[in-house]
Amino acid sequence: MGVERWRGVLLDPENEAWVVETGEPAGFICLTPPPDYVPQARSFLDQIYLLPSWQSGGMGSGIWRHLMEDLRRRRALPLALTAVEVNDRARIFYEGHGGHAIDLILGFTWQGRPFYEIVYLFDST
Ligand SMILES: CC(C)(COP(=O)(O)OP(=O)(O)OC[C@H]1O[C@@H](n2cnc3c(N)ncnc32)[C@H](O)[C@@H]1OP(=O)(O)O)[C@@H](O)C(=O)NCCC(=O)NCCS
Repeated sequence: MGVERWRGVLLDPENEAWVVETGEPAGFICLTPPPDYVPQARSFLDQIYLLPSWQSGGMGSGIWRHLMEDLRRRRALPLALTAVEVNDRARIFYEGHGGHAIDLILGFTWQGRPFYEIVYLFDST
């Protein structure tokens, strides 16, 4: 995501960004209102990213539990998000955390090639 788009995302009061701190920033998540193509959702996870040195160590699962608990308390479930179909590891992560694939949409085109995104919905867990 370009810097300008990020600036817009962070300044929009409808969005919410969390920074993961371990003494220094280790990653972030960004929540936005759900897009029109997933009307059954009450929250949308636009971004989740950990620095490479923090990946695959369980931190993402910890963040996930914290996020779902927070959304449940706020009555902001179901949560939706999209994952690029070819990102096998992300799919395993989301499906392992209870995500149900509910749709397949055209995400973007890169070098003339279409990339599809799976729409996931999470209601509890
Ligand atoms: C996806 C992500 C938040 C998961 O957090 P994590 O701390 O790495 O995950 P955990 O250690 O709790 O769980 C491990 C599982 O997450 C998945 N995972 C791990 N690294 C990943 C990566 N770089 N990208 C996608 N999924 C990953 C795998 O299923 C992994 O199992 P494995 O280690 O046996 O392969 C984190 O890896 C990340 O920021 N990845 C890069 C950005 C990304 O792909 N975001 C999702 C875009 S839709």
